[in-house]
Amino acid sequence: MNVLFVCLGNICRSPSAEGVFREMTSNSVDSAGTSGWHIGDAPYEPMLKAASRRGYDFSDLRARKFVSDDFNRFDLIIGMDDQNLVDIEALRPAGNTVTVRKLTDFASTRTEGGVPDPYYTGDFDGALDLIEDCASGLKAEIG
Ligand code: 4NP
Repeated sequence: MNVLFVCLGNICRSPSAEGVFREMTSNSVDSAGTSGWHIGDAPYEPMLKAASRRGYDFSDLRARKFVSDDFNRFDLIIGMDDQNLVDIEALRPAGNTVTVRKLTDFASTRTEGGVPDPYYTGDFDGALDLIEDCASGLKAEIG
């Protein structure tokens, strides 16, 4: 299965989800941003630092923009918050039936509103806690 994680900037939440989940799965994973603001950029340094304290290194990732053709290339598209889902759906090709979910659908406890954006909250560890929990739930569902 090809899984795509999507957030706004593709420098904090979705590369973290990709970096965490790729350690747990044999599925193909990628990430993208609904904005083009950080195309070509590495993940945000404070995000990488917080992740490295837990043993993750996804400094190899580079931001790209989510595009309509991603609906043809992936089997499962996972947004981080409700606005991501709106922006993803706006690019769905006519007739395409690929499943789009919110990462927190896979959380072990009820989590409204998705993954809070650490770019604005500054809570990189909180974001990683939630992403790790959701990645475990996703693993349980798709392997
Ligand atoms: P992300 O966080 O969507 O988790 O990558 C953001 C990163 C950068 C910006 C917004 C959100 N920005 O406005 O540059």
